[in-house]
Amino acid sequence: MTLTMKRVSKIFKDGPNEFKALNDVSLEVNSGEFVAVIGPSGSGKSTFLSTAGALLSPTGGSIEIDGQHVADLPDKQKTRLRLEKIGFVFQTANLIPYLNVTDQLHVINVMAKNKKRKGYEADLLQHFGLEHRTGNFPNELSGGERQRVAIARALVNEPDLILADEPTASLDSQRGREVVELIAAEIHERGKAGIMVTHDERVLDVCDRVLMIKDGQLVETETIR
Ligand SMILES: Nc1ncnc2c1ncn2[C@@H]1O[C@H](COP(=O)(O)OP(=O)(O)OP(=O)(O)O)[C@@H](O)[C@H]1O
Ligand SMILES: [Mg+2]
Repeated sequence: MTLTMKRVSKIFKDGPNEFKALNDVSLEVNSGEFVAVIGPSGSGKSTFLSTAGALLSPTGGSIEIDGQHVADLPDKQKTRLRLEKIGFVFQTANLIPYLNVTDQLHVINVMAKNKKRKGYEADLLQHFGLEHRTGNFPNELSGGERQRVAIARALVNEPDLILADEPTASLDSQRGREVVELIAAEIHERGKAGIMVTHDERVLDVCDRVLMIKDGQLVETETIR
């Protein structure tokens, strides 16, 4: 799996005003690589990640996932690509209130019409230490448990690319670190590609590369680690 972004820009228009949230962003991420992107609030981190994951269309530049040009795809195919190849983890778990833990994962496989690995949902929940919580609803879980369900849900479609937007934001530092280590293990052991945007500099040692985004521009950093 390779994600290639070339000179990607994103301009938000608000009446007569234009705001350049991404300015000529280029990046390549390969299987087995976990890239962190840090930057202050408003620097374009979420815009960058949503664009990389085909949730937002870029204004300019190109994005390829495994050689497929994402921006040109019709919406239906973009949705399919996301369901088949991409796992998103957001800042808050965004679980569905009326589904128990098992069904949070199952609903993704139903949407993706994925029948290939029936036992995988249970395996993932066990892997993330949630086997005793499978019948519980989100309001019965701790913040760390909810976020682990969200990560398991992001992985249930066996994505090649994992995109995480501040996955530690709602957690204390120990829980936050555990969550990032789980994501890193998934990337390194199963040869997935991953990008995490974060404010949290304490978890950067788990990542392979650290980039910084500032005013919509991406720069490689070596001084941070
Ligand atoms: N839909 C939109 N319309 C107009 N402006 C937007 C839109 N989405 C984001 N922006 C602007 O683009 C800039 C980058 O936003 P973005 O959400 O990517 O920042 P961020 O780095 O993720 O910030 P945070 O750390 O606070 O989550 C901000 O100035 C924001 O106001
Ligand atoms: Mg953000």
